[in-house]
Amino acid sequence: MKILALKGSSREKSNSSIMLDRFLEGCKSSGAEIKSLKSQNLDIKPCAGCLRCNLIKRCSLRGDGWGQLSNDILDADIVAISSPVYFFNFPSELKRIIDRFRSFIHVRITEDGLIHTPWVKWRKKFVVLLSMGSPDENEGAGIINIMKFIVKELGENNELHIFNGTRLAVRGQIGFSPDELINLYEKLKIPVELAKSDHSGNIELLSKIYSLGTELGAEKK
Ligand SMILES: Cc1cc2nc3c(=O)[nH]c(=O)nc-3n(C[C@H](O)[C@H](O)[C@H](O)COP(=O)(O)O)c2cc1C
Repeated sequence: MKILALKGSSREKSNSSIMLDRFLEGCKSSGAEIKSLKSQNLDIKPCAGCLRCNLIKRCSLRGDGWGQLSNDILDADIVAISSPVYFFNFPSELKRIIDRFRSFIHVRITEDGLIHTPWVKWRKKFVVLLSMGSPDENEGAGIINIMKFIVKELGENNELHIFNGTRLAVRGQIGFSPDELINLYEKLKIPVELAKSDHSGNIELLSKIYSLGTELGAEKK
C-alpha cells in the first residue's frame, strides 16, 4: 500500500504529528510504502477561485507545489492527514491544500443544488488525526464535516477514519506519563483527578491508531 502522510502542525513534537507517527509505525510494520510531507514546507498557493478547473480538469494555477502534491494524492492508496484544530478548522496551510481539492471535481449547478462528480474514480482510505485543546471533540466538527463531504463526493468507495485527541495544550502532551500530566494539570489549574483518565484515554487512542495502521497497511490493493 502507498501512503501519503501530511503533517499539518508547525510545532515540533506536536500532538497531531505524534498521532500520525503512531499510525505510520503501524503501517510500516505491515511493509507499506510511505511518503511524508509537512504542509508548512509545501509551496501551495491559495485557490484563485477562477473555476477553470471545471473546464480544464486540473487546477489552472502554475508555479507552485500543487502539481507534485496532486500527483502524490492521486497515487496514494491511503491519505493520512494530521492537524491541530485552529478556531474550529484546519490551520491555513492545510486549508489551502483542501481548497485545491476543488480541481479534482466537476461541479454542476442545478435548480436543486450542486452536483459534484470527480474526474477520476477514487478508491482510497483517508485517515484524519486531530489534536485540540478542548475536552469536547465537537470543536473539530468543522474539519470533520469538510472531510466527510470531500471523501464522499470523491467516490462512494472511499473510506474515512477519524481520531480526535482532546484536552491537548502543550507539545508532546499526548505521550506524557501520569506524573507529567499531573504536573501540567496543576500548572494549568485543571482538576488533577482528570490526569489519570486522560492518560489512559491518550494511551488507548494511540493504540487504536497504531492498530488501524497495521490493518490498513497490510491490506492488498
Ligand atoms: C490559532 C489557534 C487556534 C486554536 N483554536 C482552537 C479551537 O478552536 N479549539 C480547540 O479545541 N483548540 C484550539 N487551539 C488549540 C490547539 O488545537 C491545541 O493546542 C492542539 O493540541 C495543537 O495541536 P498540535 O500539538 O498538533 O500542534 C488553537 C490553537 C491555536 C494556536
